[in-house]
Amino acid sequence: MNEKVKRFVEGFLIDTFQRDLISWFEKEQRDLPWRKDTDPYKIWVSEVMLQQTRVETVIPYFHHFMEQFPTLEALADADEEKVLKAWEGLGYYSRIRNLHAAVKEVKERYGGKVPNRVEEFSKLKGVGPYTTGAVLSIAYGIPEPAVDGNVMRVLSRIFLVWDDITKAGTRKLFEGIVREIIDEENPSYFNQALMELGALICIPRNPACLLCPVQAHCRAFHEGVQGELPVKTKKTNVREMPIVAAVVQNECGKVLIHKRDSEGLLANLWEFPNCEVVHSRENPKTQLEIFLKEEYGVTVQLEQPFAALEHVFSHLIWNIVVYYGKIVSDIVETERLKLVDEHEISEYAFPVSHQRIWHEYKEKGTGG
Ligand code: ADE
Repeated sequence: MNEKVKRFVEGFLIDTFQRDLISWFEKEQRDLPWRKDTDPYKIWVSEVMLQQTRVETVIPYFHHFMEQFPTLEALADADEEKVLKAWEGLGYYSRIRNLHAAVKEVKERYGGKVPNRVEEFSKLKGVGPYTTGAVLSIAYGIPEPAVDGNVMRVLSRIFLVWDDITKAGTRKLFEGIVREIIDEENPSYFNQALMELGALICIPRNPACLLCPVQAHCRAFHEGVQGELPVKTKKTNVREMPIVAAVVQNECGKVLIHKRDSEGLLANLWEFPNCEVVHSRENPKTQLEIFLKEEYGVTVQLEQPFAALEHVFSHLIWNIVVYYGKIVSDIVETERLKLVDEHEISEYAFPVSHQRIWHEYKEKGTGG
């Protein structure tokens, strides 16, 4: 055992801790759809959805996803367009592209059975140490740590760890601690109980220590410093990007949509035509007209703006101003540039910001 881990675990009452934690989980766990069985495919999908997304948001997506793709094979064989549509609105779309690639690999290489060995599962696309620990412990009962941000918060308080949780080495420290204290008989409940404690009791602000099943084991509570933990220093650099977009119609009332690049932010999702505004150049409206001519060979006449919206990503804020417009030239439709009517548009997956554009457009009318 690493010396630092040893220092933290020394004197910790492992057996009682496991018992207190797991018996609380048995009584208090939430009734969640992915807890109905231990199908590794379902557990995997749920864990990928739950990264960066709240449980309440995930539940309806999970149900719908399982209706559409009930088995690993069904997902592996599905069109990317359909898969992206099922993820529409969940954000962090690289998660689903990676999962789709990974299940295809499981189908090809492992005959459709999710591998139960760490060395195999962790090599799949998009699968990091957290997902490995969560899926293998919950689906197969393998004692691997599943340490995400919530679990780090819980453990930093229980073990009084003042290390900065935004540093990569700190997660390793927590994984080392979990390897020492995990219940080898029931790693599934042990890991899920830590997650559940982080969600229900050991919350970021004002943790409910008086209701905590492991209060007696918590060193931060003992010293009254639970509110100061975890230590999280890194400030994310958020860049603001001004964007001009347009819903442009042809004479039949069809609107122009574009499929984003196959790499980078929101890859392969559909959008209304738009570009970043460069402040030193022409006015934003003219910039977009020039962009559409140069990039897509389309001549448009933009009219008045009808919406201004902000969309916040983890490192970026889009400030989008949206115009009405008319198409005044012919359009050559391609795989990535299409004219669609109101009914067809629902078949395409859009990022949330562009769903909002469409919603505003429908609410405010089509601009005449
Ligand atoms: N957060 C991450 N994984 C979870 C799970 N399996 N149940 C509830 N919340 C979670």
